Amino acid sequence: MSTLLIINARLVNEGQIRDADVFVKDGFIEQIGTGLSGLSADQVIDAAGQYLLPGVIDDQVHFREPGLTHKATIGSEARAAVAGGTTTFMEMPNTVPNALTQELLAEKYAIAERSSIANYSFFMGTSNDNLEEVLRTDPKNVCGVKIFMGSSTGNMLVDKVNVLEEVFRQSPMLIATHCEDEATVRAAAERYRAEYGDDAPARIHPLVRDEEACYKSSSLAVELAKRYNTRLHILHLTTAKELSLFRNDIPLAEKRITSEVCVHHLWFSADDYDRLGNRIKCNPAIKAPHNRAALWEALLDDRLDIIATDHAPHTWAEKQESYWHAHAGLPLVQHSLLLMLEAAQQGRITLEKVVQKMSHAPADCFRIDRRGYVREGYWADLVLVDLGQTSTVSKENILYKCGWSPLEGETLRAAVTHTIVSGQVAYEKGRLDDSVRGKRLAFDR
Ligand code: DOR
Repeated sequence: MSTLLIINARLVNEGQIRDADVFVKDGFIEQIGTGLSGLSADQVIDAAGQYLLPGVIDDQVHFREPGLTHKATIGSEARAAVAGGTTTFMEMPNTVPNALTQELLAEKYAIAERSSIANYSFFMGTSNDNLEEVLRTDPKNVCGVKIFMGSSTGNMLVDKVNVLEEVFRQSPMLIATHCEDEATVRAAAERYRAEYGDDAPARIHPLVRDEEACYKSSSLAVELAKRYNTRLHILHLTTAKELSLFRNDIPLAEKRITSEVCVHHLWFSADDYDRLGNRIKCNPAIKAPHNRAALWEALLDDRLDIIATDHAPHTWAEKQESYWHAHAGLPLVQHSLLLMLEAAQQGRITLEKVVQKMSHAPADCFRIDRRGYVREGYWADLVLVDLGQTSTVSKENILYKCGWSPLEGETLRAAVTHTIVSGQVAYEKGRLDDSVRGKRLAFDR
C-alpha cells in the first residue's frame, strides 16, 4: 500500500478553483477535501501557493519508437512529457515499421510497458490495404485509428476513396485524421519549385501546404463521418475556414465529430518563419496570423475541443537541410502546459479553460477510463504548478532526445514543480524518478 497527501493546494478542476487537500492511495484519489492534513501518509506535499491540476492528456505525439530512435524514444519523450506536466500520451503509428498490424501495435505497447514514465496509448495505423487488421483493434484498450488523409513524415497516406469509405463505415472506434489534400499540396509544391528552385525560403510552407488543401480534406472527412455516423476526431486544425465544420451548440459528450488544435498553431504564425525558418516547418503548416486569431476564438467558444502538441522531434541536422528536405515537425511536449499557462498569464484564456481543453476534454473525447479529472475513485494523475516562478527554455533543461526546441530563449511565467503519474510522484522540482512506470489506458466504450 502506498499513500500520498497533497495539502493546501488551489485545485483547478471542472470549471472551478478552490482550496483543497487530496489524499491518494494505491494509485487512486481516495479523498478530496479541506482539513485533511491530519491524515498520515507515506509522502506529504505542502502545495501552499500552488495550483493543482489534473495531469495533461496529449492525444497526439510522435515518440518514434520503433525504428526512428535516432530522433527519440518512448522512454526519452515520456520523461520530457512528465517534466512538463503531461501524465498521459497517445502516440501515432508512423513509426518504422508503421503500426499497421495488431502484432506491430502490440510491440509498441510492450516497449512502453518497459520504458514509459507516463501513461500511454498507441493509435492503430491505416494503409490502403490493411482494413482487416484495423477492424481487429480493441476499442477498450486502444485509443483510436489514425488516418493520414494527407502525407507527412512516414509515407502513410491513405488515398483510395473506397478504402477511406470502408474505414469510415466500419471502424469500431474513434478515427483520428490528419487532413491535407494531397493533390492540392503536390500542385502547389510544383509551382513553388518552378519559382524558387532548390533555394526556397521556409516562409513559403503555408503556401505550399495551403488553406485550401486543409479545407478540402477536412470537409471530406466530415462529409464521410456524417454519411456513416463515424466517431471522427480531426487533428491539428490550422485555418479559419475549417472552423465552420465544427459545432458548439451541443455538449462534447454528444459530439460525433470533434477537433484538436495544437499549441504551436496557437503560439506561432507565418510571421515567425523569417526568424525561425525550418525549426517551425510542420504539417499542417503554421499559417497567416488571421488563422491563429480564429483558432483562439474557436478554442474559447468550444468549436475546438482539445489542445495537444503533435510533438514531432527530428534531429537538429534533419532540420538544417534546405526547405524542401528539412523534416517537418516540432518537439513540444515538455512545454505545452507551460505555453498555455503563459497564455493564461497574458489573460488570453482562464486556468479552468486550460484544464478543460488539456485534461477533461481528451478524457471525454476518447472516453478514457477514470482519468482527466480530479475526482475520488479516479487515477491520481496530477500536476502542481507555480505561477509565481518562471521557466526559461534552454539547451540545459530540454529533455527531448533531439536536444533542441523552437522555444529556446523564451521565458514562460509558470513552472511545473511536481507531476504524479497513476499515484506515483514521477517528477519533483527538476528531478525525475526513473523507477516510475505509467499505465496503459483503458477506455469506457
Ligand atoms: O509536421 C508533422 N510531423 N506533421 C505530421 O503530421 C507528422 C509529424 C512527424 O511525424 O514528423
